[in-house]
Amino acid sequence: MGDHKPCDQVRVRVPATSANLGPGFDAFGLALTLYDDLVVTPCGSGVTVEVTGCGEGEVPLDESHLVVRSIRAGLEALGAPVPGFTLRCENRIPHGRGLGSSSAAIVGGLAAAFALAGEPVDRERLVVLANELEGHPDNVAAAALGGLTIAWTEGETGRAVRLEPAAGTAVVAYVPDNRVLTKEARGLLPSVVPHTDAAANAGKAALLVAAVTGRPELLLTATEDRLHQEYREPAMPESLALVHKLRGSGHAAIVSGAGPTVAVLGGHEGKSAGQDLFFRSTPDAPDGWTKYELEIDPVGVQVWSMEAG
Ligand SMILES: Nc1ncnc2c1ncn2[C@@H]1O[C@H](COP(=O)(O)OP(=O)(O)OP(=O)(O)O)[C@@H](O)[C@H]1O
Ligand SMILES: [Mg+2]
Repeated sequence: MGDHKPCDQVRVRVPATSANLGPGFDAFGLALTLYDDLVVTPCGSGVTVEVTGCGEGEVPLDESHLVVRSIRAGLEALGAPVPGFTLRCENRIPHGRGLGSSSAAIVGGLAAAFALAGEPVDRERLVVLANELEGHPDNVAAAALGGLTIAWTEGETGRAVRLEPAAGTAVVAYVPDNRVLTKEARGLLPSVVPHTDAAANAGKAALLVAAVTGRPELLLTATEDRLHQEYREPAMPESLALVHKLRGSGHAAIVSGAGPTVAVLGGHEGKSAGQDLFFRSTPDAPDGWTKYELEIDPVGVQVWSMEAG
């Protein structure tokens, strides 16, 4: 702990993330300009939780709330006192759709814990702690670092590097009404895959780094996957159908995270009549789906604290 004063309110903004990006299963993450906002105010003992937006009326409002658990885990890991607090969540990241809502909750809660402990956010440590709570590092890395991230584990320890996406990189996310739980989608994956598929994915994953960081014309071929998307088709047939349709018309479409959201990676191609051409070139959302036009969040979770007088 530093010699900072405790603060009397912490505000946190944490981005949605898209993981896998096609061939980079469990490794790639991209931070998106769609955010959950948290306000944490220490007071008394126990917790009071208020949620508006996504998850309202669904997530618990007690100690079992994922942000509350993450704040407490963070304070304990930092050796800081664990106060009571009120937590206000304004959520825009849809839950159970493959846009990293659970990672945002964990990274947001842990970042708040750093501020409550009077410490600057140590992003490397944030990835380690968040990976312990989430169980895999790909989404938490992007939520913690922003931009394009490549995550891995050394033993049990979550690690990540951040790369700078090319200026103008943009993402269209098609989000259906229904949810798919990460656990369910993971259960469909085979334990053994053909060597040719593994080799193809390794090459495409490497190519995807080049494509996202400066060669957008390679995005379509660089987002080809043979290791997970098709195996998950039974859990999300409409998502796979949309991926095939979009790819068939030249869009670099992938299943975002564990699905069922479908994301298209692309780049701004200038504007016409005030409308971005990349966004305009993508089709409207199918019935029952919502289309989000997003850019890349460059910095990851942000924290503001007001120090006690
Ligand atoms: N902001 C939040 N506050 C409280 N709980 C949350 C929050 N976000 C997610 N959760 C919990 O996590 C669950 C969703 O986690 P899940 O990993 O299945 O989906 P996801 O994180 O949205 O998608 P993915 O992991 O594929 O990117 C929710 O049902 C809820 O229990
Ligand atoms: Mg999740």
